[in-house]
Amino acid sequence: MLLAIETSCDETSVAIVDINRFSDRSAKPAEFLKADLISSQTDLHVAYGGVVPELAAREHLQNLPILIDQAFQSAGCRPDDLSAVAVTRGPGLNGCLLVGLTFAKSFALARNLPLLALNHLEGHLFASDLLEIRPEPIYPALLLLVSGGHTELVLIKSFREYELVARTKDDAVGEAFDKSATLLGLPYPGGPQLAALAARGDRARFPFPVGMPEDDSAFSFSGVKTAVRRRVDRLGDELRDPQTLCDVSAGIETALVEALLLKLRKAVSHHRPRAVHLSGGVAANTHLQERLRALLRQKGIAFFVPPSRWCTDNAAMIGVLGARILLHNALSFREWHERPLPKADLGPNVPFDVGAMPRWPLA
Ligand code: KG4
Ligand code: ZN
Repeated sequence: MLLAIETSCDETSVAIVDINRFSDRSAKPAEFLKADLISSQTDLHVAYGGVVPELAAREHLQNLPILIDQAFQSAGCRPDDLSAVAVTRGPGLNGCLLVGLTFAKSFALARNLPLLALNHLEGHLFASDLLEIRPEPIYPALLLLVSGGHTELVLIKSFREYELVARTKDDAVGEAFDKSATLLGLPYPGGPQLAALAARGDRARFPFPVGMPEDDSAFSFSGVKTAVRRRVDRLGDELRDPQTLCDVSAGIETALVEALLLKLRKAVSHHRPRAVHLSGGVAANTHLQERLRALLRQKGIAFFVPPSRWCTDNAAMIGVLGARILLHNALSFREWHERPLPKADLGPNVPFDVGAMPRWPLA
């Protein structure tokens, strides 16, 4: 059993993965994911219109031990059954990361377990292992990672070998969704609500600029925000009309999604990937999924997007990433118990002096 902990932003999350079950590629998440708990702090931060790092860290400190207890109960196992601990090392909010990392280190040290200190963004990628039918590893692949803190297009050359293709030079796309939603008067985090309104809107009535820096290696989303502010000012009371609100939302969503597709299309013709993975919180966006699916189907490229529960932040994705690393290192469940391997065999993530990495690009 592997215990996984995620506290990089405002979700406290704990999961327990049965590594042995997971090693069978046909096993479903319900079979290998023994515990899967996510405690969101959204209600706490909503009054501030965004995540307050100090408050988030304090919440993690209080919630984490409770969630750990609940995870063992729900998995029907005990700390003695664990073989390893995996935790998010970064990127994320420093104080938040420190809570999870310090807890994981202490736990692993106390129980003499190996510690895997992992990259949150890589976790988002491996969330596709939580699909009912798990994708075969095919390379090269492209990863479009879109969340509230990140917007990156990454080339996956082989298992855990990444090369940056493009990243945002200003706001993340999730941030652009959330800030636009705030301008429309929707409560934080407004991304999903804006998307729900957009589904009922006319995408052509209010066109917004598609972020299109000259540079193929950069996304830009700050222009949309300015255009939304101007449009909201110009509309004034007209925005109270429900259909107008839906139409503005649809215009915003369309501009944000098209900006992502523009770069992806170029990267597809340049790198000729055999698969595209979509992940991160914004991957839950249905319009983005539909546009991508249509584009990739036409080109005969496989497309993977995790189930929506695991698109946003969660520990299950950190757990399956940890399990994948252990299995890749050819450690069977039995070997673990009979012959704990030298720490060096687990790569650079093991030493206990490992620190949090608030900034840590995947590539
Ligand atoms: O991955 P995540 O949970 O946290 C970060 O690591 O940032 O992503 C959260 C982001 C928020 O900005 C939220 O508004 C956005 O994902 N999001 C969406 C949707 N669902 C979540 N944005 C657009 N459409 C959605 N359906
Ligand atoms: Zn995330």
